[in-house]
Amino acid sequence: MPASTKRRPQGTAPATLLARLNPRVALEAQADGNMAAHFDGYSERLGQFSAEAAERAPELRTGIALPSTSPEADITERGVERLIRQLARRGLLEYCVRRARDGREMAVIEPQIPDYWPQTPKLGDAETIVLSRFAYLRRRGTEMVLESPRAGALFRICDPVIAALLTTLATPQKISRLRRRDDYPGPALLALLLDCQIVIRIDAARRDVLRRAEGDDSLVLWDFHDLLFHARSTEGRQANPLGGLYPHAGMIAPLPAVRPAWSGKVIKLQQLDDVASPLDDLLRKRHSTRDFNDQKPVTLAELSAFLDGAARVRSNWSSKLEFADDGPDVEYTSRPYPAAGSAYELELYLAVANCEGLEAGFYHYDADAHALSAIDVHPQQFDAMLQGAAFAMDAPSPPHVLITIAARFGRISWKYSAIAYALILKDVGVLTQTLYMKATDLELGGCAIGTTNIDLFAKMTGLDFHVEGPVGQFALGRGMGPSPSE
Ligand SMILES: Cc1cc2nc3c(=O)[nH]c(=O)nc-3n(C[C@H](O)[C@H](O)[C@H](O)COP(=O)(O)O)c2cc1C
Repeated sequence: MPASTKRRPQGTAPATLLARLNPRVALEAQADGNMAAHFDGYSERLGQFSAEAAERAPELRTGIALPSTSPEADITERGVERLIRQLARRGLLEYCVRRARDGREMAVIEPQIPDYWPQTPKLGDAETIVLSRFAYLRRRGTEMVLESPRAGALFRICDPVIAALLTTLATPQKISRLRRRDDYPGPALLALLLDCQIVIRIDAARRDVLRRAEGDDSLVLWDFHDLLFHARSTEGRQANPLGGLYPHAGMIAPLPAVRPAWSGKVIKLQQLDDVASPLDDLLRKRHSTRDFNDQKPVTLAELSAFLDGAARVRSNWSSKLEFADDGPDVEYTSRPYPAAGSAYELELYLAVANCEGLEAGFYHYDADAHALSAIDVHPQQFDAMLQGAAFAMDAPSPPHVLITIAARFGRISWKYSAIAYALILKDVGVLTQTLYMKATDLELGGCAIGTTNIDLFAKMTGLDFHVEGPVGQFALGRGMGPSPSE
C-alpha cells in the first residue's frame, strides 16, 4: 500500500482495512464460473461469478481493501464484493488493519462468530473510551491476541505500539487527546475495537462507575473469568475447535480408567450383589440411550410425568437476606433436585421433534405452573439445534425431545462472587442425574450432551447470551429396545 502523498498532521493518517483469505483456505475457480473454497478437508460452494471477479479472487491471498465497492461500482467490483460476503458468511476471511503511512500491519481480526462483519462506527473527538473489563491480551503460540468473551472477533496485535496504546486505555481517554499521541492508530482500529465491545464508550462524568457504564444489570452481575469460561467452553461465540478431539494423543499417554491404589493398609469392603432397594435398581438400570424409536415416540403423558417428577416446583417461599436486616425479600422455590443457594437458576427448554399428543416445536417448561409455553422459532434454527444433538451423540437421527438446560445467570451471580459459574455447572450435573433417573424410572431413554451452541439459542429466543443461555443438554425419548441390563 503506497504511503499517502498528502501532508497530514501526525496521527491522522487513516488505516486501511483489508479482507483476506484465512491462510487455511484455498479458492478454486471452475470453468463454468462456479467458485469453491477448500479448507481442513471440506469444500464449500460459493456460487457463480463473472470471469473478471474470478480473475481478481487470487488478490484475496494478500487482501482486498474494504469497502470493496462504492455506489458507482462496476459489475466486477460488485462480483468481488459478493465473493467477499460469501466467504465472510462462512468464517473463511480475516481482516487486516494496516497503517496507511507505512503499510505496516497493526492488527489482524479473526472472526469468532458466524455473522461477524467489520464495522467502523463513528467516534467523535469529544467522546471518551475505555478498555472493557472483559478484554484481555495473551500469548497464543508466538502471537499476541486481544480477546473478549463479548467480542465477535479477536485481534492479533502485530505492532507493540498498539499493545502500549491498549495499556493507556485502561484509563478512560478522550478521543481528542488520543489523536494527539504519536502512537494514535487512526480512527478505524479504535472503531473496530468499539464495534467488538473490546473498548466501550463512556460518559466522561461517570468514569468512577466503569462496571455499571459497560452494560445493563445482567452484565454488571458477571465476573470476568465466569463470562470467559462460559463463552470459551461452549459453541457459537468462538472459532476454536472443541469437543472430543484428543489433542494430546500420541504425545501424552492416557491416564488409567481407575486411579492406581495408594500403598497404605487396605480394608476390603463388603460387596452387595443383590439389588437392595428400588434406588439400587434404578441406578443399575440407568444408562445412556442415543438411538430412539421413531415408530413409538414418547407421549405427552410420559413427558408430563417426566417433568413433574424431575423438575416441577414443589413449594415457594420468600425470606429476608441473610446477614442484613434491611435487605430485600428474596423468593425461593423447592424442587426435586438440590441447587446451590436454593437459587434454582436452571430453566428447561424443549425442542420437541416427535412426541405423541404434542405439536413439534420449541417450548419453555414453566416449572411453577407445570406447563409448556410455545416459543416461535425459525424452522432452520430448530432443525440445527436437533441436528447438533444427533451429531454430538453420533446418532442416526435426533432424539424425540431435546432438553436444553439454560441458566438465568443473574439469579445466582447476584449472590455469589467468583464461584457463580462453577456453581451453575455443578447444578447442571445434579439436574442431569435427576433427569437420567426419572427417564429410567419411566422406562424411557436419555443421554446427557456435553456441547451447546449459545449463539444459536440466543438467536432462537432473542435473549442476550449473557442474560440467559444454555449450559447443558439432555436427549430424551423411547429407546429402540430393552436396556442392556434387562
Ligand atoms: C456431562 C456429560 C456430558 C456428556 N456428553 C455426551 C455427548 O456429548 N455425547 C454422547 O453421546 N454422550 C455424552 N454423555 C454420556 C456419556 O458418554 C455416558 O454417560 C458414559 O459413556 C457412560 O455411559 P452410561 O451413561 O451409559 O452409563 C455425557 C455424559 C455426561 C455426564
